[in-house]
Amino acid sequence: MSERFVERLFPAFLEIKDETLRELSERAMELAMERGGWNESNIRLAPVTLNWLDCDVSWVEHVTDVTDMCLLEFDQMAKYYARHGVPFSRDTVAAGALLHDIGKLTEFAPGENGTVTHSGNWELMRHPLSGAIIAAQAGLPDNIVHLIATHSFEGEKSYHTLESEFVRTVDIFVFQCSVKGLKKK
Ligand SMILES: [Fe+2]
Repeated sequence: MSERFVERLFPAFLEIKDETLRELSERAMELAMERGGWNESNIRLAPVTLNWLDCDVSWVEHVTDVTDMCLLEFDQMAKYYARHGVPFSRDTVAAGALLHDIGKLTEFAPGENGTVTHSGNWELMRHPLSGAIIAAQAGLPDNIVHLIATHSFEGEKSYHTLESEFVRTVDIFVFQCSVKGLKKK
């Protein structure tokens, strides 16, 4: 079993074949946890959203679902990209899926007795912005910073790489499924 907590939390980090990209990706997630006040004992309390009534989906569950779905879809769909001669990176998709929501760890803050609130600057520094900054500070390349910055509505009119478009589409699908039947606050 891995000594590194983020690898135990998300074994899909090992799907990133480029060792430098894997190291920087793990460092970015650790940095986000540290900045937001999350650690081994409380990270599973982090929610995916506070905007839906009685939402029981955690951040860990959401990131796991998005990453698993992205890799599944990549392995099924990569044939078309290959057939049409379009370079499409599994490593970028894996790292991008794992990191797309690291900014949520600074958008939400752990409170007393297992409660969670929005952090003081969550509107000013919504997770695509805070996540992109953390990724850049961790030393990740521009294509990963771009993917994080543009994965939510902030990226609606943005230029997209193939990988950012791919992760964004899967993320929207997974999120919509996971709040199905719930009411927005
Ligand atoms: Fe997400």
